[in-house]
This record gives sequence, structure tokens and C-alpha cells, in this order.
Amino acid sequence: MKPKTKKLKLAVLISGGGTNLQAMVDQIEAGKLDAEINLVVSNNPGAYGLTRAQKHGIPTAVVDYSKYGKKLFPKVDERELPSQFPELVKRQRIFHGLPPEEIRDRLARLVLAEQEIIELLNPLAPELICLAGFMRLISPYFIGHYNREDRYGIMNIHPALLPAFPGTDGYGDTFGYGCRFGGITVHFVDEGEDTGPIIAQATYPIWPGDTLDVIRKRGLELEYALYSQCIQWMAQEDLQVDYGKDGRPQVRILDPEYPRFLEQLTQKAFAR
Ligand code: GRF
Repeated sequence: MKPKTKKLKLAVLISGGGTNLQAMVDQIEAGKLDAEINLVVSNNPGAYGLTRAQKHGIPTAVVDYSKYGKKLFPKVDERELPSQFPELVKRQRIFHGLPPEEIRDRLARLVLAEQEIIELLNPLAPELICLAGFMRLISPYFIGHYNREDRYGIMNIHPALLPAFPGTDGYGDTFGYGCRFGGITVHFVDEGEDTGPIIAQATYPIWPGDTLDVIRKRGLELEYALYSQCIQWMAQEDLQVDYGKDGRPQVRILDPEYPRFLEQLTQKAFAR
């Protein structure tokens, strides 16, 4: 590991149990991750991950998206929206197959909630936003705040081998399809759903007789190790984004220890 004094400033967005968050906290406390978590934000007031953060003295906040739902908030006043909203409507790729007015309305509600998160994060100037089981769509408004032309600012952990099985049930989809291997993906976030450049992936076997619970447990062990490692690579400035001939961004891991790290992780996942 390269010597490093400065810690990468993180904000973590969660919705549920927060075991990935816990893994990051543990790695930081063990001195293996050069980062500090300055805020944990949840869209869900009941998320146990909030309690996990508080137990470690990490500030938390809740932005309850349901308050912008049609029930509690029947009409969006577009004057409350950022001036680039019409541009965002044209650019967005997260809502499709709906009438244009419905897409506009859904995007508007999402942007209102995201505005609240951005206001909480602004004073902290996070260097990386980590999505850790954050079960809400992210609009181009939020992404535009943290992705710069030369640097991605949002990372996500996805419980499947992208581009297979995007969406919310990576383990269920992998298992239900009858795959012989499953996997997990850490990627940067772009404006599509689970389409951003892949940083690293790890695989696990699915043996005859395995249940969904068994494979989820196997995958989560990989998630905990790989997500923290990817953040560490970012902290060490070991992630370089290159653009191929087709303009597609490709992440290069510069750490020479990367193959050995992946080999060890894989050996553990395949051990019987
Ligand atoms: C993980 O499987 C993660 O990959 C997915 O949601 C789950 C969150 O688990 N996005 P936790 O809240 O970190 O325990």
C-alpha cells in the first residue's frame, strides 16, 4: 500500500441494513482504508444502517423520499426545481415507457429529494459518494453534481456481474436464471441504471443444492471486501479512467497488487 496521509472524504447513501457500510467502517477502523465517512444519508428513516453509523459516531441524516410522493405532495411547483430541469428531462435515461408528462413528474419529485441531499452534502465537500444498498434511482441532476469531466464522483456496489442482471434483485435474478456462477460489481455511476464503468468484479460458484440464501451470503462476503478495496484504490489514486476508440470509459486499476488480491478473494469464495 502506498503511504498516504490524506483521508478520502466519503458520504455514504443507504436504504437498509447497512452491512456494506459496516464493512467500510470496520476497514477504516482497522487502518486498512484511508477514508473518513463524514455523513450517512438514508431515504428510509428505519434503516438499521443509521444505527450502525451512530454507534461509530458518524453523523446521519434522513431524506424521506415519500414526502415527495403523489400522496403527500400532489403537485410539483416547477419553480422549486433547478433552472436546468428542462435539460435534465431531455437527458435522463432512468424513466422510460411512460407518457412524457409522467416522466417529467417523476423526475421532478426525484430532483426535489436529491436537492435536499445535495444541500446536506455541500458543506462537507465529499470527494466520493458511495451508494451502499441505496434503493433509489439517481437522476442526472445528482450525478452532474459529483461527476466531473475528468473524474467520477459516485461509486456503487451491485450484487450481480454487470451488464447481466441490472436492477434491484441481483442475487434473485442470478439464482432464478440458473447461473453456475454469480458475481458482484463495483462501478462508477453514470446517467444510466447500473451502466457506469466497471471498476472491479468478483465471482462465486453456485453449487448444486445451493439456496438463494447461501449464494447471497457468498456474494455479500465478496461485496464487503471488494467495495472497500475499490475505495482504497481511489484514495491511493490507483484508478485511472481511459477512453477507448468508441469513446467508452474504461477503468484501469494501477495497483500492482490487484491480481493477487483478486486471486485470494476468489480462492476463498470457491473453497468448499
Ligand atoms: C447489497 O447486496 C448491495 O449490493 C445491494 O443492496 C444490498 C445492501 O445490503 N445494492 P446492505 O444494506 O449493505 O446490508
